[in-house]
Amino acid sequence: MRQAGRYLPEYCAVRAKHDFLTLCKTPELAAEVSIQPVELIDVDACIIFSDILVVPEAMGMELVMEEGNGGPRFPHPLRSRADIDALKVPDPNRELKFVMEALRLTRKQLNGRVPLIGFAGSPWTLATYMVEGKGSRSFRHIKELIYNNPKDAHALLEKLARSVASYLNAQIEAGAQAIQIFDTWGGILPQEEFREFSLRSINLVIQLLRRNNVPVILFCKDCGHSLEAIADLRPDVVSLDWTVDIGRARDMVGSYVALQGNMDPALLYASPERIRTAVQKILEKFGKGSGHIFNLGHGILPDVPVEHAKAFVQAVKNESPKYHR
Ligand code: CP3
Repeated sequence: MRQAGRYLPEYCAVRAKHDFLTLCKTPELAAEVSIQPVELIDVDACIIFSDILVVPEAMGMELVMEEGNGGPRFPHPLRSRADIDALKVPDPNRELKFVMEALRLTRKQLNGRVPLIGFAGSPWTLATYMVEGKGSRSFRHIKELIYNNPKDAHALLEKLARSVASYLNAQIEAGAQAIQIFDTWGGILPQEEFREFSLRSINLVIQLLRRNNVPVILFCKDCGHSLEAIADLRPDVVSLDWTVDIGRARDMVGSYVALQGNMDPALLYASPERIRTAVQKILEKFGKGSGHIFNLGHGILPDVPVEHAKAFVQAVKNESPKYHR
């Protein structure tokens, strides 16, 4: 999940001098902010600093990151078949070379302290931003596309799947030691459409990966209704949001995938004692044995006190040996 970000004063200090996309595109800066959480809050893995939306940008869409609460935006969203056909499948070692360089540099600077995780958005989640132009409440345009024009939607999703797969393969070659696929918006779909438009294209990504023993982590937010279908794509790890009971998830799919998660990120606003209780409860629910990567159920929130983030990591480190073998 997101580790770098506005809760860290050290991140804000770097951000004050450079805009977000400059951080993503300058390997020295990306490496610096990627490593900050490892040094400051003592997490056991490092996720590369980047954003899922650099892929649509590399496919030819203009991307702007608005300061304040605006967030990312595509000023010219996809609105026709011609727009979809105009997108290219990028060469990740050219158009996304800055990510590969950031990975190589971060690996070098980590010097074996913790493993490095690469990532990409799922085709469906990328498509929602590309068609809506920005975050949305109703997802009117992307839903209109899948319901009125499923053929065009599939053409877009297949192009995205090929782009994401070659991007992740390049990340593996550049030194990523695990990769995570974020399907942040799978949960806006009815179950049947989730399978048809999100899982089908994630499956194509996974089929096209040259995994080389690099674990694949799959996070589909708000998709607890489809755990078995998600695990059937055979990622190595299924990442859970906080609405799922991790004990039940283990009963359902724990014999063939590992599980990651799943504390509510908002618990980091509560006291360190309350955080510790929450950590114990999740460990208790998962039960004894291996196959659990403790994490939040989604990204860390912007104004969480750093002391609480540290208390969370420490609680996991102190409590988990009682459970994990
Ligand atoms: O730990 C890390 O920082 C890893 C890097 C990372 C970022 N984005 C940096 C970022 C990762 C893994 C992402 C993934 C991402 N980006 C997702 C999927 C995961 C998720 O959180 O659901 C999505 C949907 C995006 C798109 C995106 N990027 C949005 C909607 C926003 C705005 C919302 C917000 O929090 O401001 C971003 C901006 C963004 N990406 C920030 C960071 C650290 C905010 C930072 C800033 O403005 O400095």
